[in-house]
Amino acid sequence: LDNGLADTPPMGWNSWNQFYCNGGNGLTAAALMNVADEIVEKGLQEVGYEYVVLDDCFQNGRDANGVLKVDPTRFPNGIKPVADYVHSKGLKFGIYSVPGTKTCANLYNGYTPNIGSYGHEQIDAETFAAWGVDYLKYDWCYPDGSLNLTKQQAFSKMRDELAKVDRDIVYAISEYGDSAPWTWAEPIANLWRTTGDIAPNWGSITSIIDRQAELHPYSGPGHWNDPDMLQFSNGSLTYAQNKSHLAMWSMLAAPLFLGTDVGALSDAEVALLTNKELVDIDQDPLGEQARRISNGEGLQVWTRELADGDLAVALLNTTGSSATVSTSLGALGAQDDVYVVRDVWSHSDLYNTAAAISATLPAYETAVYRLSAGMDEHLPGVVGASGSGRV
Ligand code: GLA
Repeated sequence: LDNGLADTPPMGWNSWNQFYCNGGNGLTAAALMNVADEIVEKGLQEVGYEYVVLDDCFQNGRDANGVLKVDPTRFPNGIKPVADYVHSKGLKFGIYSVPGTKTCANLYNGYTPNIGSYGHEQIDAETFAAWGVDYLKYDWCYPDGSLNLTKQQAFSKMRDELAKVDRDIVYAISEYGDSAPWTWAEPIANLWRTTGDIAPNWGSITSIIDRQAELHPYSGPGHWNDPDMLQFSNGSLTYAQNKSHLAMWSMLAAPLFLGTDVGALSDAEVALLTNKELVDIDQDPLGEQARRISNGEGLQVWTRELADGDLAVALLNTTGSSATVSTSLGALGAQDDVYVVRDVWSHSDLYNTAAAISATLPAYETAVYRLSAGMDEHLPGVVGASGSGRV
């Protein structure tokens, strides 16, 4: 969407995968303010995590004027003080609605009825702006046939209302990739989900990665494919799997939203998330989503071009055993004869290559390299002899 927003993929935290619809000690004003504190304390803000997004389950019907009411036990003073607090930390605030009459939580969790934005698009856009909302996640769960709206019409309605309010609001839509939104959503939204909901297990992550493989032509500044939230300490993911999850989301120029308990992240996980060299790949201004150039027996090679002419390369071992993954400058489409291979995890230059790039990876690991044209004579590697590869 050409609204001047989301030039690079948005980053932050979203409440859904941590709290779902849970009240009590779950989704409350205090919890959201605490997340804002944690994002700052853990150094996540410094590398770009900035949106605190309140997902479904804050609504409580509408008042006589049609204005959204808010669950008084979860948000006793409404939403604005929470957004104000988030802003006071230098962060931004996001919220959730749907184009139908009921939200997804109504459908699946039996949460309060009649709180979708259908017929209230204008008043909701105005209300969100008045609350201080900077990001709207607009979901699709209640396709009520009687409303007679195509997805394009339904999502465009809210786009048009957001354009009228005096506030910059990033517009994220979701219909789970069901009608190939990448083919029609570029003029409508800043990002669109490409799949059903992610689950915190390796099968879900690799199937989402597979889905993205054909979608690289559709992503770019202001209009991103969204493979859903980062899972980290949820579920059964191991450290290596989280590392690959983040590496691949960054290669894919994906929005990076933590869908997990920020306070529960280990120091090692925080170190992954705050790896500036990796975030720089995700946030590269060219906005090119990686292409998969090989995929055999669970061993994958992905590459993307970066704004300064460097190449980012990921060697991904999706299998449960250690394996060697290899590629070559030719396969990557590299234009120069010699490149310095830099390891984004260890922050070190490894070798010069005139041909081959290769790594032996433990189960579920990903190597991420940044390749810069030229050579460093202090590093090992064969130079000049085209096709001779690495020594
Ligand atoms: C859908 C979305 C989730 C979340 C829930 C809220 O399932 O895909 O990310 O927003 O709805 O009900």
